[in-house]
Formats: sequence, structure tokens, C-alpha cells
Amino acid sequence: MKIAFYGTKPYDRLWFEPLAKEYGYRIFFIENLLNEDTVVMAKNCDAVCVFVNDQVTKPIIEKLHDLRVKAILLRSAGYNHVDMKAARGKIHVLRVPSYSPEAVAEFATAALLSVNRRLHRAYVRTREFNMKLDGLMGTDLHGKTAGVIGTGRIGQAMIRILRGMGMEILAYDLYPNPDLDVKYVDLADLMAGSDVITLHCPLTKETHHIINKKTIAQMKKGVYLVNTSRGALVDSQALIEALKQNETFLGVALDVYEEEDGIFYEDCSDDIVRDDVLARLMSFPNVLITSHQGYFTKEAMKAIALVTLENAKMLEEGMELINEVK
Ligand code: NAI
Repeated sequence: MKIAFYGTKPYDRLWFEPLAKEYGYRIFFIENLLNEDTVVMAKNCDAVCVFVNDQVTKPIIEKLHDLRVKAILLRSAGYNHVDMKAARGKIHVLRVPSYSPEAVAEFATAALLSVNRRLHRAYVRTREFNMKLDGLMGTDLHGKTAGVIGTGRIGQAMIRILRGMGMEILAYDLYPNPDLDVKYVDLADLMAGSDVITLHCPLTKETHHIINKKTIAQMKKGVYLVNTSRGALVDSQALIEALKQNETFLGVALDVYEEEDGIFYEDCSDDIVRDDVLARLMSFPNVLITSHQGYFTKEAMKAIALVTLENAKMLEEGMELINEVK
């Protein structure tokens, strides 16, 4: 099996290289993302391996098909970046459905706590020996209500953690889980009843901009919003307008951003920032932005590498493709 591995970072090699040897697979590590210029590098490969910011559009899929590439191995659970219609009947799309829901839920909690207790500001201040507390006041979360949107693997892990902190839970899911001991409400009630809103649903047509001008208007004054799911769940422009009013949000933690491609996972510190929306979001003292790192733990990386190569093996051996995106 020969695999063209796009968007390689040093930490990918760390987990994939030794494991590929065990499987007897040849991996060509490519630093560039998959796009119309780099797709030719998959020539003579059986599969390509991609992450969340690679372009897996119709023209790219057609080109991969022409190159006789048999599968797209996603190093992610989400597949909103893949044109599934274009892939149907041409190429297998295999994902890692679950690697460590706890990794993302723990990160979402860390981001919530940081933005609530202003740790991101305190860290910078104390390094300059500014020990004043003005502007750092937080809110007790114990006894407050968290609204969890999406009660799948990560949403459930988040519910367990938030309950451990003494929070009440409201949940919203298009497909409520009857086995889950949680109070499901409709979206408007979740918005109106929550002190913390945390997003754990996939990005689909229905969830695109689920946080928008209308839903923001339904929220309590003084709410925390956490998005560790996908950037386009939040209408960034509507969020900025609300942040400028300085009434609705006490804090916002964003691990994902709708225009993150080409910025997140890269060092742009020497570049001129051309994304005015991102720059404006960064300017708010109560907004914490991280670079899509919710998944990034040793355990999750190990599981991603293992499941990805297991997916390749199932394909090679003609076994049932249990992780195929249908
Ligand atoms: P999952 O598939 O276990 O759960 C998703 C839940 O969302 C399901 O219960 C589903 O019914 C629900 N859902 C689907 N459509 C909905 C809608 N229109 N409205 C409300 N709920 C809806 O997925 P999992 O593993 O919990 O992951 C959730 C998301 O987290 C992924 O789709 C991905 O976007 C994101 N993610 C982010 C990571 C990061 O590093 N920041 C890492 C891994 C996943």
C-alpha cells in the first residue's frame, strides 16, 4: 500500500512513521495541503491521507479518480470538507469516527475555564509583573446551566465533565438519544436557558451558522460560548456585532473558525493579517482563539494513526469498510 500523506506536520510523522513500518506500508509525507496544484503528487499511490483543511472538492476527487487512487483516508471524524456527492461510486472515503472524545471535551472545558477566569490575560500580565486583578473577574460555574448542542460522543463527554463541576444541563440534538439521562429542549429554549453554550454537532446544511443574529438575540445576557466543533457553526460577523454591543457575551472560546484554512496550523507571525474578521475577533479581551487543537493529545494522535492504517488495511484486504462515510 502506498499512501500520499498531505499536510504533514512533525507530530504526524512521530505517530504514523513507526506504525506504517509495522503495517508494511509506504507513506509519502508531503508538507503541502491537498489542492489542485498538489493532487498530482498522489500519482502511483493507492490512497491519500488528509486532515480537516485539505481541499477535497469535486475537481480534486475527479483527478484522484483519474490517477486511480482508491481511497481518501481522513485523519478526522468530521467530513464536511469532502464533496461526498462527487466521491460516490468513484473513491472510498474512510474516516476515524472516534479517537478520543474526552480530548475534545477536556479542551472545551479548559477553554471555557480560561475565558471565564481570564487566564489568557493573567498569563501575559503576570509575566510583566502586572499583578492587578482589574478586568480578570470571572463567574462561578457551579449551579449554572450549560446548553450542549449535539449529544454524540464529545457532547456526552462534555456533559459528564460539566455535571462534575456542578452544572445543570440542557441539551439539543436533531436526533435526541433516548438512552441519555439529559433534558432535551428545543434550540430557542436552550439559547434562552443557558449560561454556557457549547457546540458539539457536526457542520451540516442545518447547522451552518446555527449561532447567528437570531439565536444570539435569544441568549441570556452574560453567556459564555464555546465552539470546538466547526467554525462555520458560528456566523462570525453576527458574533462580532454582538461582542461590540458588549451585553450578551461574557466570554467566547473559539477553537475553530469558518475561514481557518491556510491560517490555522501555520506560523503566520511574520505575515500581514489580511483576514479582518479574525483580526477583529482577536481584538476582544473576552475572546480566546486557539488553532483547532481540541483533538491534540498523545492518546488521540495514537488512535488517529492506528485507525487510519487499520482503514487502509481493511481496504487492501477487501474486508468490510466499517469506517466508510456513506
Ligand atoms: P458524533 O457523531 O458522535 O455526535 C454528533 C451529534 O450531533 C450527534 O448526536 C448528532 O445527532 C448531532 N447532530 C447532527 N445534526 C445535528 C443538528 N442539525 N443539530 C443538532 N445536533 C445534531 O460526533 P462527535 O465525535 O461527538 O464530534 C462532534 C463534532 O466535533 C464533529 O463533527 C467535529 O466537527 C468536531 N470535532 C472537533 C475536533 C477539534 O479538534 N476541535 C476534533 C474532533 C471532532
